[in-house]
Amino acid sequence: MPGRTLAHPPAHQPDSLFESCSWFYALCREYLFRDHTPEISRALFPSAGPAPGTRVLELGCGPGFYACRLSQEYPQIHTTGVDLSRRLLARAKSRAASRSLQNCTFAHGDAHSLPDDSNSVDAIVVSRLFLIVANREAVLGEIFRVLRPGGRCFIAEPTSGFRTRIPLGCMWLLSKVTNSPAGRYREPRQADVMSAPDFSALIHSQPWGEVDLQYDGWYQYAVCEKRAEALIDSAWLERRVEWRAV
Ligand SMILES: C[S@@+](CC[C@H](N)C(=O)[O-])C[C@H]1O[C@@H](n2cnc3c(N)ncnc32)[C@H](O)[C@@H]1O
Repeated sequence: MPGRTLAHPPAHQPDSLFESCSWFYALCREYLFRDHTPEISRALFPSAGPAPGTRVLELGCGPGFYACRLSQEYPQIHTTGVDLSRRLLARAKSRAASRSLQNCTFAHGDAHSLPDDSNSVDAIVVSRLFLIVANREAVLGEIFRVLRPGGRCFIAEPTSGFRTRIPLGCMWLLSKVTNSPAGRYREPRQADVMSAPDFSALIHSQPWGEVDLQYDGWYQYAVCEKRAEALIDSAWLERRVEWRAV
């Protein structure tokens, strides 16, 4: 099921678990989940470091962990974290403010439909987002659209259903106890973790120039580079034929 194509969320959206349990998710992000900053830096930036003015998006940024880490490490870049949860965005903003980061901003937005111009972003970070979005292919399509030719994205997705079920299950429980009856939240009760073939199929649904897929015990990663526009059509068709033949 490469591009899980559930319908877009209805106009009147149910609440989000990430909104109602923002504090709990922020704790998990800080103390439980792996920090991929070194892998992100290696994947997105040349060894000499990013050029001044490099524009980076973090999609589904939650409490802004990576947007802040990268802005702190590379003062010459500008990062923007985008998320649907206003409470997590408020946490992200105070995280940036507490570190006096001037090169890090946050915006409310939906990864299915980004406000950015096509070909306008240098690099994109996406961590643990595809397991909960309604339409994976639409989100990847937006990533491809807004990246500039030569721009790269780094995607990290968990591979263990069991490990992702624990924080999600706790959030369901906490929400049930403290807020509203169960069943009102838009997130699934069990995270929909992608198998390696599904992850590969999703990533190859866009005409990248270069794709590097890697797996370790708990995560699967994709580093994708968009090629120069003139080359996209013919090269992608060729690769698509080759890839389907495997
Ligand atoms: C599992 S968390 C990952 C947060 C962060 N990237 C990390 O690594 O911890 C998923 C985040 O995506 C956000 N989110 C879910 N659907 C989204 C969408 N369609 N557009 C933007 N953000 C979304 C949630 O509010 C939540 O903060």
